[in-house]
Amino acid sequence: MAEGLPIDMNAARDQRLVDLLAPLRALFEGEASGVANLANASSAIGTVTSWHWVGFYLVDKSEDNLVLGPFQGPVACTRLHRGKGVCAKAWEDGRTVVVKDVHQFPGHVACSLASNSEVVIPVINASGQVVAVLDIDSDQFDDFSKAEVEALEALMEVVSSEWNRWTW
Ligand code: SME
Repeated sequence: MAEGLPIDMNAARDQRLVDLLAPLRALFEGEASGVANLANASSAIGTVTSWHWVGFYLVDKSEDNLVLGPFQGPVACTRLHRGKGVCAKAWEDGRTVVVKDVHQFPGHVACSLASNSEVVIPVINASGQVVAVLDIDSDQFDDFSKAEVEALEALMEVVSSEWNRWTW
Protein backbone atom coordinates (compact mmCIF):
# COMPACT_ATOMS: atom_id res chain seq x y z
CA MET A 1 0.00 0.00 0.00
CA ALA A 2 1.17 3.50 -0.79
CA GLU A 3 0.46 5.92 2.02
CA GLY A 4 -3.22 6.88 1.85
CA LEU A 5 -3.69 5.22 -1.55
CA PRO A 6 -4.89 1.70 -2.40
CA ILE A 7 -1.85 0.98 -4.58
CA ASP A 8 0.34 -2.12 -4.34
CA MET A 9 3.86 -0.71 -4.22
CA ASN A 10 5.26 -4.15 -5.13
CA ALA A 11 3.63 -3.90 -8.57
CA ALA A 12 5.68 -2.54 -11.47
CA ARG A 13 5.74 1.25 -11.77
CA ASP A 14 3.66 1.33 -14.97
CA GLN A 15 1.05 -0.88 -13.30
CA ARG A 16 0.98 1.39 -10.23
CA LEU A 17 0.14 4.31 -12.53
CA VAL A 18 -2.63 2.30 -14.21
CA ASP A 19 -3.95 1.35 -10.76
CA LEU A 20 -4.08 5.03 -9.81
CA LEU A 21 -6.91 5.77 -12.24
CA ALA A 22 -9.81 4.85 -9.92
CA PRO A 23 -8.26 6.35 -6.74
CA LEU A 24 -7.60 9.60 -8.62
CA ARG A 25 -11.23 9.79 -9.72
CA ALA A 26 -12.26 9.14 -6.12
CA LEU A 27 -9.98 11.93 -4.85
CA PHE A 28 -11.68 14.40 -7.20
CA GLU A 29 -15.20 13.29 -6.33
CA GLY A 30 -17.22 15.98 -4.63
CA GLU A 31 -14.34 18.50 -4.60
CA ALA A 32 -14.53 21.57 -6.83
CA SER A 33 -11.26 23.24 -5.87
CA GLY A 34 -8.83 22.98 -8.78
CA VAL A 35 -5.90 23.75 -6.47
CA ALA A 36 -6.87 20.95 -4.05
CA ASN A 37 -7.41 18.45 -6.85
CA LEU A 38 -4.16 19.22 -8.68
CA ALA A 39 -2.29 19.13 -5.35
CA ASN A 40 -3.61 15.64 -4.67
CA ALA A 41 -2.96 14.54 -8.27
CA SER A 42 0.71 15.58 -8.09
CA SER A 43 1.09 14.01 -4.65
CA ALA A 44 -0.56 10.76 -5.79
CA ILE A 45 1.64 10.42 -8.89
CA GLY A 46 4.76 11.38 -6.92
CA THR A 47 3.96 8.96 -4.10
CA VAL A 48 3.49 5.92 -6.31
CA THR A 49 6.52 6.62 -8.53
CA SER A 50 9.10 8.61 -6.52
CA TRP A 51 10.02 10.62 -9.61
CA HIS A 52 12.14 13.65 -8.76
CA TRP A 53 9.54 16.33 -9.56
CA VAL A 54 5.85 15.98 -10.39
CA GLY A 55 3.62 18.96 -10.88
CA PHE A 56 1.45 21.22 -12.94
CA TYR A 57 2.02 24.44 -14.83
CA LEU A 58 -1.17 26.39 -15.54
CA VAL A 59 -1.79 28.47 -18.65
CA ASP A 60 -1.96 32.13 -17.58
CA LYS A 61 -4.09 33.64 -20.34
CA SER A 62 -3.55 37.24 -19.30
CA GLU A 63 0.25 36.94 -19.38
CA ASP A 64 0.32 34.34 -22.17
CA ASN A 65 2.74 32.11 -20.27
CA LEU A 66 2.75 29.17 -17.89
CA VAL A 67 2.68 29.69 -14.14
CA LEU A 68 3.73 27.15 -11.54
CA GLY A 69 0.82 25.24 -10.02
CA PRO A 70 0.55 22.50 -7.38
CA PHE A 71 3.57 20.20 -7.36
CA GLN A 72 5.63 17.74 -5.37
CA GLY A 73 9.41 18.15 -5.24
CA PRO A 74 12.07 20.85 -5.01
CA VAL A 75 11.20 24.51 -5.65
CA ALA A 76 10.84 25.26 -9.37
CA CYS A 77 10.74 28.09 -11.90
CA THR A 78 7.52 30.08 -11.45
CA ARG A 79 7.05 31.23 -15.07
CA LEU A 80 7.74 29.43 -18.35
CA HIS A 81 7.54 31.26 -21.65
CA ARG A 82 6.40 30.42 -25.17
CA GLY A 83 9.01 28.93 -27.46
CA LYS A 84 11.34 27.86 -24.68
CA GLY A 85 11.51 24.49 -22.97
CA VAL A 86 9.66 21.22 -22.81
CA CYS A 87 6.53 22.49 -21.05
CA ALA A 88 6.04 25.29 -23.57
CA LYS A 89 6.43 22.78 -26.42
CA ALA A 90 3.66 20.55 -25.00
CA TRP A 91 1.47 23.61 -24.39
CA GLU A 92 1.94 25.05 -27.87
CA ASP A 93 1.66 21.73 -29.72
CA GLY A 94 -1.14 20.34 -27.52
CA ARG A 95 0.55 16.97 -27.29
CA THR A 96 2.76 14.88 -25.03
CA VAL A 97 6.50 15.52 -25.20
CA VAL A 98 8.91 12.85 -23.94
CA VAL A 99 12.57 13.86 -23.61
CA LYS A 100 15.02 11.02 -22.97
CA ASP A 101 17.94 13.37 -22.25
CA VAL A 102 17.02 16.92 -21.31
CA HIS A 103 20.60 18.09 -21.93
CA GLN A 104 20.03 17.40 -25.63
CA PHE A 105 16.73 19.34 -25.82
CA PRO A 106 17.33 22.81 -27.27
CA GLY A 107 15.93 25.47 -24.95
CA HIS A 108 15.30 23.08 -22.07
CA VAL A 109 14.59 25.09 -18.91
CA ALA A 110 16.67 23.58 -16.13
CA CYS A 111 14.77 24.25 -12.91
CA SER A 112 16.69 21.46 -11.21
CA LEU A 113 20.23 20.28 -11.93
CA ALA A 114 19.17 16.76 -10.95
CA SER A 115 16.80 16.39 -13.90
CA ASN A 116 17.97 14.12 -16.74
CA SER A 117 14.74 13.10 -18.50
CA GLU A 118 11.29 14.60 -18.62
CA VAL A 119 7.73 14.03 -19.81
CA VAL A 120 5.11 16.75 -20.24
CA ILE A 121 1.44 15.99 -20.91
CA PRO A 122 -1.11 18.66 -21.77
CA VAL A 123 -4.42 19.02 -19.93
CA ILE A 124 -7.08 19.93 -22.49
CA ASN A 125 -10.47 21.23 -21.38
CA ALA A 126 -13.88 20.49 -22.92
CA SER A 127 -13.44 23.36 -25.40
CA GLY A 128 -10.23 21.82 -26.70
CA GLN A 129 -7.95 24.42 -25.11
CA VAL A 130 -4.70 23.49 -23.36
CA VAL A 131 -5.30 24.81 -19.85
CA ALA A 132 -2.34 23.25 -18.04
CA VAL A 133 0.45 20.72 -18.39
CA LEU A 134 1.61 17.90 -16.15
CA ASP A 135 5.39 18.03 -15.94
CA ILE A 136 7.49 15.16 -14.57
CA ASP A 137 11.26 15.20 -14.16
CA SER A 138 13.42 12.17 -13.45
CA ASP A 139 16.99 12.09 -12.22
CA GLN A 140 17.50 9.06 -14.50
CA PHE A 141 18.01 9.24 -18.26
CA ASP A 142 15.27 7.77 -20.50
CA ASP A 143 13.08 7.02 -17.49
CA PHE A 144 9.59 7.06 -19.03
CA SER A 145 8.41 3.86 -20.73
CA LYS A 146 5.66 3.82 -23.35
CA ALA A 147 3.33 2.09 -20.87
CA GLU A 148 4.04 4.76 -18.24
CA VAL A 149 3.42 7.60 -20.66
CA GLU A 150 0.14 6.02 -21.73
CA ALA A 151 -0.92 5.59 -18.09
CA LEU A 152 -0.04 9.22 -17.35
CA GLU A 153 -2.05 10.31 -20.40
CA ALA A 154 -5.04 8.34 -19.09
CA LEU A 155 -4.68 10.08 -15.73
CA MET A 156 -4.57 13.46 -17.46
CA GLU A 157 -7.72 12.55 -19.40
CA VAL A 158 -9.44 12.36 -16.02
CA VAL A 159 -8.06 15.79 -15.08
CA SER A 160 -9.08 17.14 -18.50
CA SER A 161 -12.62 15.83 -18.23
CA GLU A 162 -13.06 17.28 -14.74
CA TRP A 163 -11.42 20.64 -15.46
CA ASN A 164 -14.48 22.72 -16.35
CA ARG A 165 -16.21 21.65 -13.13
CA TRP A 166 -13.41 23.12 -11.01
CA THR A 167 -13.11 26.61 -9.55
CA TRP A 168 -9.93 28.53 -8.73
N1 SME B 1 12.16 21.60 -17.61
C1 SME B 1 10.94 22.34 -17.82
C2 SME B 1 10.77 23.44 -16.82
C3 SME B 1 10.01 23.08 -15.61
S1 SME B 1 10.88 22.19 -14.48
O1 SME B 1 11.35 20.95 -15.09
C4 SME B 1 9.97 21.83 -13.12
C5 SME B 1 10.92 22.89 -19.25
O2 SME B 1 11.92 22.76 -19.97
O3 SME B 1 9.90 23.45 -19.64
